[in-house]
Formats: sequence, structure tokens, C-alpha cells
Amino acid sequence: METQFKAMVVDEWTANSTTAAWRKWHPKFAVQLAAMTAALVDAAGIKPGMRVLDIASGTGEPAITLSKLVGASGHVTATDLAADMLAISEDNARAAGCTNIDFRQADAHELPFPDRSFDAVTVRLGAMYFWDCTKALAEIRRVLRQGGVAAFVCWGGLDTNRYVLSALGPFVKRRELPPMPADVPQPLRFATKGSLSAELERAGFSAIAEESRVLPAPWPRPPEELWQQFYDVAVPMQPYIDSFDAATREAARAEAIAEFRQCYDGTFTDVPIGVVVASGRR
Ligand SMILES: C[S@@+](CC[C@H](N)C(=O)[O-])C[C@H]1O[C@@H](n2cnc3c(N)ncnc32)[C@H](O)[C@@H]1O
Repeated sequence: METQFKAMVVDEWTANSTTAAWRKWHPKFAVQLAAMTAALVDAAGIKPGMRVLDIASGTGEPAITLSKLVGASGHVTATDLAADMLAISEDNARAAGCTNIDFRQADAHELPFPDRSFDAVTVRLGAMYFWDCTKALAEIRRVLRQGGVAAFVCWGGLDTNRYVLSALGPFVKRRELPPMPADVPQPLRFATKGSLSAELERAGFSAIAEESRVLPAPWPRPPEELWQQFYDVAVPMQPYIDSFDAATREAARAEAIAEFRQCYDGTFTDVPIGVVVASGRR
């Protein structure tokens, strides 16, 4: 079972189409998810001088923001299982002028770092894809110094998530989403209140905190482009969206764009995003 889910996650995040889409949208995505990054930074208690491990770094956020916050006396190690994503991250960090950051291909389940190497570990929109969450969280705890904090941001449920609801609702009303079991890697895995906290507790963390938040998410272009970006980067949702026939898909897409348009002010399409923010201490 674990092998099957690992293969699925690796396939999703190492596909050439995934890498190309994430490279293309990175600059605007960084703007859209700035509040999400701020929530993560806050939960991790990031300060100048800290040694931070960012896991599942994708194309470079939040690692680039973290590198600026920890400053010259601190250091960020950006990791991802997908080497091509990490290469984009490196390009983006270089373009942003970061000098206190290094990059290492790494699976969160087998971190190539000694015990107690980091003051903080951050994971933005990555923990939902761990195929053995208890194992990955135990690894994260192992590499934290005593008292160090691990912080996570995951997608919130459709009830709080206007962004995901607007994008997928028109499809869901035509045909329900396939079942998404709570113990299987999928975007909404930790949307249920307390589910990520329970995993943190199982992995031995203390001082566990979890809250649901609704955050601004200003996409700096009209709604049509936001839809395209949602489709391109929401890789695990693509098989569901693509399973509709062309006419139905187009009708649902048009409805999703109409939903997004309600949040368009002529410059930004700011559809609020619901997230779960959780943290725990070694
Ligand atoms: C939705 S993207 C998030 C990227 C970035 N953190 C962000 O917020 O923009 C999910 C990332 O998790 C990575 N990932 C999934 N499973 C992983 C694992 N077991 N270890 C490390 N990275 C993983 C994927 O390769 C992908 O880059």
C-alpha cells in the first residue's frame, strides 16, 4: 500500500508537466500565497540567526522568504523529493539574491541530516502528501534541536475554503469527488479539525497547536488566469477534472471563473483560502 502511494506521489510531482507549470506560475504564486507564508513563519517563530529546514520546498516558497528572515547569521536548507522542482527553487533563490540557502534532494521520510540539526522545520502544502505520515513526522522531530518547532500549513476544508470551493464546486455539483480517505496522500487530508494534531501527537511532539484560518490570496491577474493556474498546479486534482467530457468540463470551468470573478477588483482576483496551521515542539 505504502509503495503504491509513494509511486503515485512521486509520479505526480516529478512529471515534466508539473515542473513546467510550477516554474511558469512561481512569481505570481509567491504573491498569492504571501499570507500563507506569513502564517507559517509566525507558527514556526522564525527569527534572525535560526537554522531552518524547509521540506517539500517546491519552486522556492517559503524557503526564499525564510532565507531573508533568518538573515546572514542564519541558514535555510531547502529540500524536495523532486530534483527538478528543487532546481527551479535554486534558480529562483539565486534571482532573489539569497546567499544563506542550500538545496538538497530529500524525501521527508528519510531525511539526510544528523539528529538535532535545525532550530525549526517548515512545511507549506506538503505534509498532506507524506505516504507514511507518522514516519515523516518522526524524522522531522529527529532533526529538530530540543525545543525546536515544526510548523505546517495544509489546505482547509471546502466549508472554509472559497478558493478551492469556487474552483471545484461546479465540477462537484455535476459529479462528486472520488472518495478521499483520511490516511491517503491527497490535498484535503488534514482539512478535518484535529487530524494533523493527532499525527503530531503520535510522532511525539509536545506543545501542539492547530488553528483554522481564512487568508487573503490575491492573484495579480483576472479570474481566467487564476483558473488556469489552479488547474496547472493542483496536480492531484487533474485526473478528476480531466475525467469530464469536454463540454461538461467547459461549462464547469466557466462557472468556476464566474465564481472567481466575484473577487476581482480589476487588478487582483483575491479569492480567500482556508488553511489549517499546525505546529509542535520537540
Ligand atoms: C503542493 S507542492 C508545495 C510546494 C511548496 N512548499 C509551496 O508551498 O509552494 C508539494 C510539494 O511536496 C513535495 N513532496 C511531496 N511528498 C514529499 C516527500 N515525501 N518528501 C519531500 N517532498 C515531498 C512535492 O515534490 C512538491 O514539490
